[in-house]
Amino acid sequence: MSVKPVFTGLAAAVAISLSFGVTAADISEWSKDTVSGETDEAMHMEADLENGRDVYEVCSACHMPEGWGFTDGTFPQLAGQHRPVLIKQLADIRALNRDNPTMYPFALPESIGDAQALADVTAYIEKLPMNPENGKGEWAEGTPEFEQGKKLYADNCVRCHGEHGEGDKVKFYPRIEGQHYAYMLRQFEWIRDGKRRNANPDMVEQIKNFTDKDMKMVINYISRVPVKKEDLAPSVNWKNPDFD
Ligand code: HEC
Ligand code: HEC
Repeated sequence: MSVKPVFTGLAAAVAISLSFGVTAADISEWSKDTVSGETDEAMHMEADLENGRDVYEVCSACHMPEGWGFTDGTFPQLAGQHRPVLIKQLADIRALNRDNPTMYPFALPESIGDAQALADVTAYIEKLPMNPENGKGEWAEGTPEFEQGKKLYADNCVRCHGEHGEGDKVKFYPRIEGQHYAYMLRQFEWIRDGKRRNANPDMVEQIKNFTDKDMKMVINYISRVPVKKEDLAPSVNWKNPDFD
């Protein structure tokens, strides 16, 4: 009883590191370079949800009180995103490691506060229920493009973003299930073409040969993966009661 699970765990760990194709050192290299300073500081702070709500007020102007953004992709959905991912993205935007001219002034310490503000607002956002009707690509299940996207996803994305796009909190891999198609398409293209400086180099390598059609098919697929019901708001008409 005690030997077998240990062995299985070890075998699984080896299998995972092999299928990754990159060593643990590579992964921590990326984390070390990009996940430092303010991200690290905020990650280790206790969050004050009430202050998080107050900070979120300024964000709600663009990301909406529900944190759902817009299906047209101008503003991403933030609701339900992993807190470490949110912290890293905010810290990256503040450090000008990710371009976001629209949001930059609102994300600055002068505007919302220091690392504690990041810790608080991200704890608040992570708990918001997600939009049950995110923006989707044009190809419904059963079409050849959907099926091809599913295959591309399994071959190129699962190892980081997970079976159904759930991401990985610990490794700072974003949750992409339930995100708006148009937003993801833009980010994917920027990552592929080197316009998003905080991108993960292993992802860039993985997708460098994707054509525009491949990109649309894989993003179409992930935009249509159903999100667990308990993570979704009860209806598309749900309003965040904190902002009544
Ligand atoms: C003036 C509009 C505006 C305001 C205000 C704003 N944002 Fe944003 N935010 C954006 C836009 C636009 C993007 C997407 C930029 C892009 O396409 O790369 C974004 C992206 C983000 C992302 C990255 C999401 C991802 O999936 O990678 C996070 C996190 C975020 N915003 C959090 C916040 C928080 C927290 C606040 C409040 C402190 C805030 N934003 C205020 C416009 C805004
Ligand atoms: C080696 C791991 C890895 C692989 C493989 C990978 N990604 Fe990523 N992806 C990441 C990381 C890490 C980020 C966030 C980078 C950062 O911090 O800005 C990301 C960001 C994204 C984003 C932007 C999310 C947002 O909220 O801004 C999208 C969309 C995305 N990936 C889709 C995909 C798809 C589709 C595939 C497969 C074709 C893929 N990724 C393969 C690690 C990976």
